[in-house]
Amino acid sequence: MTSTLLTVPLAQVETPLLAVALAQGAALPPSLAELERSAGGVLARAITSGDFKGKRDEAMLLYPSGGKAQRILLVGVGKSAEVTRSSIRRAAGVAAKRARSLGVTQFAFAIAAEARNGVAPRDLGQVIVEGAGQGAWAFTELKAAPEDPKPEVEAVAVVCDAKEATEVAAGQKIGEGVAAGHQLARYLQMLPGNVCTPSYLADRAQQLAATYGFDLTVLDRAAIQKEAMGALLAVAQGTQQEPRFIVLEYRGGGGDAAPVALVGKGVTFDSGGISIKPAQNMEDMKFDMSGAAAVLGTFEVLGRLKPKLNVTGVIPSTENLPSGTAVKPGDVVKSHFGKTIEIINTDAEGRLILCDALSYVRKFKPAAVLDAATLTGAVVVALGHVAIGVMGNDEPLIGEVRDAGERAGERCWPLPLWDDYRELLKSDIADVKNSGGRGAGTIAGGWFLREFVNGFPWVHLDIAGTAYTDGEPPHQTKGPTAIGVRLFTEFLLKRAAA
Ligand code: BES
Ligand code: MN
Ligand code: ZN
Repeated sequence: MTSTLLTVPLAQVETPLLAVALAQGAALPPSLAELERSAGGVLARAITSGDFKGKRDEAMLLYPSGGKAQRILLVGVGKSAEVTRSSIRRAAGVAAKRARSLGVTQFAFAIAAEARNGVAPRDLGQVIVEGAGQGAWAFTELKAAPEDPKPEVEAVAVVCDAKEATEVAAGQKIGEGVAAGHQLARYLQMLPGNVCTPSYLADRAQQLAATYGFDLTVLDRAAIQKEAMGALLAVAQGTQQEPRFIVLEYRGGGGDAAPVALVGKGVTFDSGGISIKPAQNMEDMKFDMSGAAAVLGTFEVLGRLKPKLNVTGVIPSTENLPSGTAVKPGDVVKSHFGKTIEIINTDAEGRLILCDALSYVRKFKPAAVLDAATLTGAVVVALGHVAIGVMGNDEPLIGEVRDAGERAGERCWPLPLWDDYRELLKSDIADVKNSGGRGAGTIAGGWFLREFVNGFPWVHLDIAGTAYTDGEPPHQTKGPTAIGVRLFTEFLLKRAAA
């Protein structure tokens, strides 16, 4: 998604589609009076009739009888006092989605001054471009071209006041970077498991490294064995696909500054292994590499925006399949960290591959480690498809991550890692077991990971509920959400600016 900036009055915007975000209200906002005149009174009729209320996600397409815009799309943002960056991003997503279905390749977007609720110009530029990228995205490459193919929505023109232009433009630059990372992440998520394998992910990391000059290390099965990552190897022993352990290093902050490490779960298909999953919806388990997609998407953003800090991305990647060589319930393996693990349930594989990654990152002496993983079905029970479950060993870092999530529109809600829950993982035979039974499933997953975290502040994001959608949300395409890309980016940009 590219973007341009327009500082002309709304009535002067020449475009196939002018989207105008409005807050809830019974009257036409005064700032739209001139547009209303040029459009022949069509806005006030939609609003005063009560047909358009301005609620969140509401959209109404109008055909003005005059003026420069061929179409005007009113988009609701809800109550003006509650408008945030996220509501504006969302409205831009709704608009872009409509632009796509109309077949227009560009559209203009403005928010009525009355609806803005103090959102800063830089934020405005950023979230409009982010939202536009999110709403316009579609995955079409595995279908035959339809008879009436829809063109891509390529650009959004942000309409603003001339005195805010510099700041809005700066925000747009960030938004374009984030949109590119978002697009990469969603693409990787959407690819089926027979295409997006561990070695495919490694190839994509290689492409990023070549494009942006990152350092890349990829360990294959033999190298993973040399590193004694027994937990990752246990998951990988059931499949013909070669596992990969991928390390990307971005150095924007000078040689010896401690990096932030981002760790992403890269299970390219999770059948459950010998503890096999039911067939219903098993196809969704191609999304079990969404944490890895978030890390790669974030590196796309880093390559484009080049913030001043060091970031290390770590992706343990494998399939989880049953076979004659697969790991079995009851097997005990030795992790990279040195602790032994009794594998009670082979479907609790995410924590196995992540524990070796969390142990491995110690060598980078990280300032902070964030991991993102589609780890537990239990987080869907607890928080549905709305919030990421967040846990960690450092309260200030948890707060910093939650703030980033708020700015990103990727909200996090905390679960407690109290000592009482450690009991769930006591094994009769090994140092720890990988599954604690029915209750507190998400916390048990978090506690398991914590057993392998030593010497750095760490936060775990359980994104199983937020990585993809079953239905078609109003502001984005059905399916993958690229969750984590925006949160990681907000977190890193803030750290780089500090
Ligand atoms: N990948 C799944 C978690 C998941 C569930 C992701 C639903 C997305 C949607 C994970 O590997 C898993 O199977 N977890 C088990 C853990 C249990 C065996 C302790 C689960 O949640 O049932
Ligand atoms: Mn599983
Ligand atoms: Zn899994």
